[in-house]
Amino acid sequence: MKLRKRWLSHRCVCLAVGFLGLLRLVSRPAKETLKPLDFHVSPEYRKLVHQHAHEVLERKCHPGSTRKSFLGQLPASSRTTQPFLWKDMPTHKDLFLYPPPFGFRGLQGKVSALLQQLPDSKQVPPLKKTPEECRRCVVIGNGGILKGLELGTLIDRFDTIIRLNSGPLGKFSVDVGNRTSIRMSYPESTPPHWLDTDPETLFVAVVYKGVDISWISAMINKLPVPFLDWLFFWQNVPDEIPLERNRIRLLNPLVIKETALDLLHFSPPTTRLWGWDQNVPTLGVSALDLASLLCDEVSLAGFGYNLAQQEAPLHYYDQMSMSAMLWQKMHNVSRETQILKSLITEGIITDLTGGIHCSFCPQ
Ligand SMILES: *[C@@H]1O[C@H](CO)[C@@H](O)[C@H](O)[C@H]1NC(C)=O
Ligand SMILES: *[C@@H]1O[C@H](CO)[C@@H](O)[C@H](O)[C@H]1NC(C)=O
Repeated sequence: MKLRKRWLSHRCVCLAVGFLGLLRLVSRPAKETLKPLDFHVSPEYRKLVHQHAHEVLERKCHPGSTRKSFLGQLPASSRTTQPFLWKDMPTHKDLFLYPPPFGFRGLQGKVSALLQQLPDSKQVPPLKKTPEECRRCVVIGNGGILKGLELGTLIDRFDTIIRLNSGPLGKFSVDVGNRTSIRMSYPESTPPHWLDTDPETLFVAVVYKGVDISWISAMINKLPVPFLDWLFFWQNVPDEIPLERNRIRLLNPLVIKETALDLLHFSPPTTRLWGWDQNVPTLGVSALDLASLLCDEVSLAGFGYNLAQQEAPLHYYDQMSMSAMLWQKMHNVSRETQILKSLITEGIITDLTGGIHCSFCPQ
């Protein structure tokens, strides 16, 4: 155990040094990424954002509207997409067509064992009823644009709040609120120490590689993560999620497939020895697709990578700058921005913080 921890911490130091080295290479004076980023939001912009969020919360909510519009752009098979996998759900062969994160190809045995440990769909409490029988959701994208906007109390007024990865609350609550209906992440991006105190929180696990399935199983059963599995994680992963078994969900990988191939029109995954096709959607856009399945109306907050403004903060909670996004090779951010922008301008979803498209800014 000790040895493992020591070895891991060595590996972490190496990774961190490598990472900082990369940051140094891509950002002009490297010190700028380490000192607190100087970032101010104008009071006028904050006022516009608040007015717009009020308006989104107070106008009539239209049942089923976001998914209906999505389906106009998705293939017929998307009509039956299920958000989560359950113990009692028959597995369809489409589930095994592609490797993770688009499917579970080659993982049949592991997946059927995991399904047995998941809750039965008929035994979990349904999402809390909403006053108008119409659910307004917000997906919080962790972007630096949330900093200083003081949107917390308005975010907390949404029926369902979907948070991603280790986006923290606590001292950031003024900007991002304190409720979490869903936290969605893969093992390495899950908060090392669980952050959410909201008794409503569900954890939605996303599978990016085979070993993630063993980790999810360990979390559900409150067991240690198998020793050898640690070799396959590129960063330390939590060894506990303090939620009851029936609060843990497994994201249907067909949600990621639908997001990548049908919503973003990426090409299907090919077998590669090294590198990425840049066809993996960011977790934010996958969460938007999940929200279209769970909610009636969907808003985004904290979305948008402004790559032209390299010194702007990447996240609302750390000191990384936008330039860190330039060297990633997994996601095609420009395609995502293009598609999100068209969804916002067509009124299918709303962007509360205006980082993708500001529909409430003066011309
Ligand atoms: C969030 O903050 C409000 C106001 O301080 C408090 O009443 C509420 O219980 C908090 N909710 C959670 C989930 O922490
Ligand atoms: C990323 O998306 C843009 C815009 O849709 C496209 O022109 C470009 O070829 C894509 N890049 C890759 C590597 O697929």
